[in-house]
Amino acid sequence: MPFHPLDPPAAAEGDINFSLRRQAWAGAQVNPETQALLDRDTQVFLRQSVSTPCLSVIRRAEGIWIEDMQGRRYLDFHANNVHHIGYGHPRLVAAITQQLQELPFAPRRFTCEPAIALAEKLAQITPGTLGKVLFAPSGSDGIEIALAYMRAATGRFKTLSFWDAYHGAGFGARSIGGEQLFRGGSIGPLLPGAEHVPPFGDYRNAWGVRTGSGELCANQIRYVLEQEGDIGAVIAEPSRATPSIAPPGFWQKIRQACDEFGALLIFDEIPTGLGKTGKMFACEHDQVVPDILVIGKNLGGGILPIAATICKPELDVCEHYAHGHYTHEKNPGVAE
Ligand SMILES: Cc1ncc(COP(=O)(O)O)c(C=O)c1O
Repeated sequence: MPFHPLDPPAAAEGDINFSLRRQAWAGAQVNPETQALLDRDTQVFLRQSVSTPCLSVIRRAEGIWIEDMQGRRYLDFHANNVHHIGYGHPRLVAAITQQLQELPFAPRRFTCEPAIALAEKLAQITPGTLGKVLFAPSGSDGIEIALAYMRAATGRFKTLSFWDAYHGAGFGARSIGGEQLFRGGSIGPLLPGAEHVPPFGDYRNAWGVRTGSGELCANQIRYVLEQEGDIGAVIAEPSRATPSIAPPGFWQKIRQACDEFGALLIFDEIPTGLGKTGKMFACEHDQVVPDILVIGKNLGGGILPIAATICKPELDVCEHYAHGHYTHEKNPGVAE
């Protein structure tokens, strides 16, 4: 069938047909016990798209499997990208249990050896000189920290990111995100200066091409950086989790353009970091080092809610402000 750039996707999460199909599936699959829990869930949680009402109820998550209340087991390839090492890995459960017994929490203004060791480990495994760390309780918060440091370090507030991207649920993250589902409704206005370009991806793209979208996209980013002249950062997933892999050399071109026009490069590797793409970080496929790298999800091994914003040392410019002053900032965590 001929392709047209405005062809709608078959069914997107969040659109009404998708919700109706989910409901129809659930109606045929769930027994009264599961339905009773789903009803309680809907009663007590705020309803929101792609979440509540939920699809089903699980009672176990182990390795790559989840098991629902009716004993059906599913191979979970999605897992919100937290289970690089599988759900409930026994070594991790043992390490966390031991840590909880020894030191469950570190209040702010104190540090602790496990938090230091984890930050040191991240500095060691991240590429280039990346190595100054702030921990946050979610990837969304990690992105907010990155935006704050961008503003402080560059004196610029504008950002350039992709339509169709997701970077989290804070106002900063929603502004740089490009999905209507998270930007729309009655929550506006979003942050000023959050500019977007269409993303690369030869399957479906704004240019209606079947090959070469990477080059078109890179040229467009360069053009906007040059035209605006005061963009603080390009922010993107180096390998888009939903799902497109950048063509070889793409990020080299963007790195070069950022350097030329004084913009930082911020990579959101919240889903892909820590080995998901075959290298420790997806940016290593193109040998590009960002100025700021944000990771999360699997950093907590699918158990602890923890993310990290990892910056180049020259971005350590906010010593008199507090941009990541979270209750769990120096959470002992586990440096396994
Ligand atoms: C690419 C990307 N960035 C940011 C986030 C936000 O992370 P969190 O849900 O931990 O706030 C997600 C979560 O799905 C994500 O996939």
